[in-house]
Amino acid sequence: MSELLKKDILLKTETFVKEHLEGDSGHDWWHIHRVRNVALTIGSEEQADLFIVELAALLHDIADHKFNDGDETVGPKIAREWLESLNVDEASIEHVCKIIKDISFKGAGVRTPMHTIEGKVVQDADRLDAIGAIGIARAFSYGGFKNRELYNPNHPPTMHTSFDAYKKDDGHTINHFYEKLFLLKDRMNTRTGKTIAEERHKFMQNYVHQFLKEWDGK
Ligand code: ADP
Ligand code: NI
Repeated sequence: MSELLKKDILLKTETFVKEHLEGDSGHDWWHIHRVRNVALTIGSEEQADLFIVELAALLHDIADHKFNDGDETVGPKIAREWLESLNVDEASIEHVCKIIKDISFKGAGVRTPMHTIEGKVVQDADRLDAIGAIGIARAFSYGGFKNRELYNPNHPPTMHTSFDAYKKDDGHTINHFYEKLFLLKDRMNTRTGKTIAEERHKFMQNYVHQFLKEWDGK
């Protein structure tokens, strides 16, 4: 595939994704924009195929299980139909759809291995957007969207061992830090991802520490 053709596919996909994502909480276009940019940074450090990285980053949230009654097969299906309509080669479609299918965090005790360097890069980029200053903002924005409490000391966190249990839990937002966000640093796939995660992780730890201090009136 020529570079010109790849560029055209990426531009059309960007427009398609923008039209599809408008309005849903936590997965707006700017999340995709940030994930794409970090993915390209990590991907070039890690010598990944940047066409696959960029396509998968653009399409990774095209249909979120949280908004499709827990159905994780919708995203890859929409992505496949879209890429087929652009005559993208079958191997690239297969690769991108596999990344989209495997990428999500499914609970503290559930393994979500990525099988290719491109998958590892995009998963790291998606996870980086869930931690640090932006991660904190997204967590409370999601909690607000779901009408959840900021915090409730009577409900300790749960380390979910199945995706189903993780999806059904509707605890307060501070729990989400313990059930997911603090775990992400050690699940980075790439060296570049780990380095970026360290700083964001520390920032989040300080934040929750301060939050709990204020909660106790100190
Ligand atoms: P991923 O992109 O890894 O699949 P999700 O789609 O689960 O992540 O989450 C999207 C955003 O919403 C993330 O920033 C995540 O931290 C946040 N989020 C998901 N579940 C919760 C929750 N129970 N409480 C607060 N924030 C949440
Ligand atoms: Ni995402």
